[in-house]
Amino acid sequence: MQACTLAFGPSHGRMPLTDIMGALGAHRWRVRGVHVPALGVKIHPHYGVFAPTRHEYVDLVASVPWPRPGKVFEIGTGTGVLAVLLAQRGASDVVAVDIEPRAVECARDNVDRLGLSASVRVVRQDLFPDGTADLIVCNPPWLPSPVSSSLDTAVYDPGSRMLRGFLRGLPEHLSPGGEAWLVVSDLAERLGLRAPTRTLITDAGLVVRDRLDIRPRHKARKDDPLAEYRSAEVTSLWRITRSDKAEV
Ligand SMILES: C[S@@+](CC[C@H](N)C(=O)[O-])C[C@H]1O[C@@H](n2cnc3c(N)ncnc32)[C@H](O)[C@@H]1O
Repeated sequence: MQACTLAFGPSHGRMPLTDIMGALGAHRWRVRGVHVPALGVKIHPHYGVFAPTRHEYVDLVASVPWPRPGKVFEIGTGTGVLAVLLAQRGASDVVAVDIEPRAVECARDNVDRLGLSASVRVVRQDLFPDGTADLIVCNPPWLPSPVSSSLDTAVYDPGSRMLRGFLRGLPEHLSPGGEAWLVVSDLAERLGLRAPTRTLITDAGLVVRDRLDIRPRHKARKDDPLAEYRSAEVTSLWRITRSDKAEV
């Protein structure tokens, strides 16, 4: 009962069995938490919020050279895992945003549990908050598939709206001399579902300063029709800057 109330709200009424099973599974994660090695602490995902069960992308953000930023934005914070990592790495002024109310509540919960609310403010926002930041981090959903419910927003980015909107907004929101970190896998481009990430970045008038790559550690399931593509998948952290022209 408590699991359904937390997942669907107090007046959820009768529900299909599959939804109840989903809420129960999510509730176990919420209570137990997921240990994230790069953080050394647990993150507690809420129902319908993207959970950091694959750790490679967090490891990328943990290993990239630290630019000692003042203001930091994290776009699409989900559980808040990357905002927490940025605060652990030394950021004291992080604005972490998400379009989904569930994610905002979840990220606030994690930030509060870890005693980081003085450094990380979580707000509901479509893409960028007002103003500029020295470091802007984004891990958008990696597949550009259509969504059928708000739950899908955590894992699918229809028409690459978030990815393209993020790149389009960077020249306006990145401080001169600032840096953006885009975390994205190449699965969508391997499947021919979108243009290569580098093309999207340069088409937005931005410059690739560096790229860190990591291979997934989990094995693709043999019955997965995408196994061949998944086994070759590479996740990258793209270090992006404004072009000189944009900085004038
Ligand atoms: C792949 S998850 C990443 C979550 C978290 N940053 C992480 O690395 O685990 C993408 C997140 O972006 C959010 N999102 C999708 N579209 C957005 C938008 N237009 N503005 C802000 N957040 C968005 C989703 O709700 C989801 O929480």
